[in-house]
Amino acid sequence: MSSVPTQFSRVLSGMRPTGKLHLGHYHGVLKNWLRLQHEYPCFFCVADWHALTTEYENPGKISTNVWDMVVDWLAVGIHPGEATMFIQSRVPEHAELHLLLSMTTPISWLERVPTYKDQQEKLREKDLSTYGFLGYPLLQSADILIYKAGQVPVGEDQVVHVELTREVARRFNHLYGREPDFEEKAHAAIKTLGKKNAKLYNDFRKAFQEQGNHEALEKARALLEDMQHITLGDRERLFGFLEGSGKIILPEPQALLTKAAKMPGLDGQKMSKSYGNTIALREAPESVEQKLKTMPTDPARVRRTDPGDPDKCPVWALHQVYSNDDVKNWVQENCRSAKIGCLECKRPVIDAVQAELAPIRARAAEFEADPAGVRQIINQGCEAARDVARATLEEVRSAMGLVHE
Ligand code: TRP
Ligand code: SF4
Repeated sequence: MSSVPTQFSRVLSGMRPTGKLHLGHYHGVLKNWLRLQHEYPCFFCVADWHALTTEYENPGKISTNVWDMVVDWLAVGIHPGEATMFIQSRVPEHAELHLLLSMTTPISWLERVPTYKDQQEKLREKDLSTYGFLGYPLLQSADILIYKAGQVPVGEDQVVHVELTREVARRFNHLYGREPDFEEKAHAAIKTLGKKNAKLYNDFRKAFQEQGNHEALEKARALLEDMQHITLGDRERLFGFLEGSGKIILPEPQALLTKAAKMPGLDGQKMSKSYGNTIALREAPESVEQKLKTMPTDPARVRRTDPGDPDKCPVWALHQVYSNDDVKNWVQENCRSAKIGCLECKRPVIDAVQAELAPIRARAAEFEADPAGVRQIINQGCEAARDVARATLEEVRSAMGLVHE
């Protein structure tokens, strides 16, 4: 945690509002956010414009989906005192940055993002040959860069979007971070660090540039981070000078790959709404019980007396998520020898899921009963996000020659 200088420590992530969330979201994404919110300044974005890129013909449900998703975030414990939660379209600065970045982004970069063609294929029933859909990943880049986020927790499918964001940022800094008198200004900025720190900075820079010493790069960044008195412009110059580029106005973010294994659904495939194999976070207890009781098991185990193979059973996949070693050993032994029935085997999983969901359901009910309170949390989040977004946008406008005085 301490190895990431605060300049780059902001975390940004987003989700398209698809409605009530399920256990797949919880284990795959939200548990990660819950941890991060205590470690870094976090911004969590309800990406309603992103939803519109595919739902533009049918936007009626987006608003309900937004509030359902926010309630679920709050219910699992994303806390407004720890993380800034906001709605993308309420921070219109994202749109202006998207527009400005579109000036410098080659169309081919967007056309070759694999999700572009993949999603068009997958969502064939929708006409996604739109300008907005092509720009989807660039809008995401704007989401990230406007907070100068250093880390972006995403699933595997989104890593390419973070990669694109890095290229977009690099190009931006290359085009607009090079002032004619950059070197001079950088040297003048070094002097303002004071003798001792200036020497440290120069030594670290040399070690990085001449020997590729990344530890030295990290140390120099941390050093700059500790310098409270230098101006924002000088800080950006010194970050850039360190790496041999111009000013770093938009830092390149890192993808923080969500480690959590894919949450298995009721049929053994990844849990996903489109497969109809989900358990919602607000699912009623009776329904949880029913869904798990009737979920398929090893198809070869037709009769109670037939031995089973956990490796061929979706219930076993759930034991991996919910059960300790003792329970798992018990399943392995007694399934293969047909000493337990499948219903018996499911019991510990059912109990664990119920125990996990009970407090979430209860908190969700509280937030559902207080829509005004939820709206207030989000209003405050939007304001806080806007403050940061405005500051970045001012720098971007000025770097692009858009300050007309
Ligand atoms: N595209 C992301 C998804 O479909 C959602 C998203 C929008 C996002 N903006 C973002 C994720 C910014 C990370 C950072 O899951
Ligand atoms: Fe699956 Fe358990 Fe039945 Fe074996 S006993 S087939 S692991 S549900």
